[in-house]
Amino acid sequence: MSKTIKLPGLIDVHVHLRAPGATQKEDFQTGTKAAIAGGYTLVLDMPNNPEPTVSPEALQQKIDLAKARVYSDVGFHFGASKESIQYFESIKDKVFGLKLYMNHTTGELLIEDEKVLEEVFLNWIKKPILVHAEGETLQKAVILAKKFGNKLHVCHVSLKEEVELIKKAREDGLKVSCEVTCHHLFLTEDDALRLGPFGQMRPPLRSKHDQQALWQGITDGTIDMVASDHAPHTKEEKLGEKVPNGVPGLETTLPLLLTAVNDGRLTMDRLIELTSTNPRKVFKIPEQENTYIEVDLEESYEIKNENLQTKCGWSPFAGMKVTGKVKKVVLRGNIAYDGQNLFGPYGQVNIT
Ligand code: NCD
Ligand code: ZN
Repeated sequence: MSKTIKLPGLIDVHVHLRAPGATQKEDFQTGTKAAIAGGYTLVLDMPNNPEPTVSPEALQQKIDLAKARVYSDVGFHFGASKESIQYFESIKDKVFGLKLYMNHTTGELLIEDEKVLEEVFLNWIKKPILVHAEGETLQKAVILAKKFGNKLHVCHVSLKEEVELIKKAREDGLKVSCEVTCHHLFLTEDDALRLGPFGQMRPPLRSKHDQQALWQGITDGTIDMVASDHAPHTKEEKLGEKVPNGVPGLETTLPLLLTAVNDGRLTMDRLIELTSTNPRKVFKIPEQENTYIEVDLEESYEIKNENLQTKCGWSPFAGMKVTGKVKKVVLRGNIAYDGQNLFGPYGQVNIT
């Protein structure tokens, strides 16, 4: 059976395409091929490269690298660090947001010093500050955003207490948006045991109780969007002594959400809001003319590592059966994917 429908191209506000500096994991070409195959027509890249994106030169280097060859459109977030505050004014028009790490994760961008945090919130105005702030740390971010009047975007919400905190902050008048990932929606700490290093990421997989709160937040509108937090690492790295945190997600997010629609856990209208309308609104992403995708709502298939475009070549969802397949991706009138083959590159670097 088949039932093909047209959807807007998906937008992912949280991906790690790894270039420059970690292209054994992913690069702009393979990462944007994965994006297109997953139904995404625009992705926003994070700054936590080995040499982080915290200066105008580092940002320009990324823009130039991406310009050479991207299959989907790409934009960037700038990294917050003590030294990068001085550049905020000069780079603000080239990025969609500022990424601030308030917990430990991949890379060296953590800020814990209260004074530096205040300087960051004081100097980054208008565009969103995307925080990696788990549990109690999120409370700190909310207080700062209230004090300085920032737009706060909470990355990868994973705990029930975080959902509640966001709801309350919004009721108190804070401009706050948030995202959730499919690994937190579809996997729990039980899967972490089964997956070993391939189920290890920040924030970690949580309890069933937390997972239910995320689905509730999806249904009642507390959660604004789904982001992949596509964070590929090679199999060798994952099997090594010091396991890096992160899992790929660009090619599995839409099929998993379509499966939820098929199961009656999500409406199609809500799926469109979570993956396209809301990311575009929150990050003020310009319209992409004549850009859309087609999905077959009834085609079932098994997620297999060998069918993935991502350079890392694995997925925590391998072996899972999904219902809903990307059949076509059209980017500015160009067929970028026909359900089997990729064409192009037709992507653009979007720096405003
Ligand atoms: C991310 C990565 O590998 O860059 N890892 C992760 O577990 N999510 C970093 C991040 O987004 O925190
Ligand atoms: Zn991330």
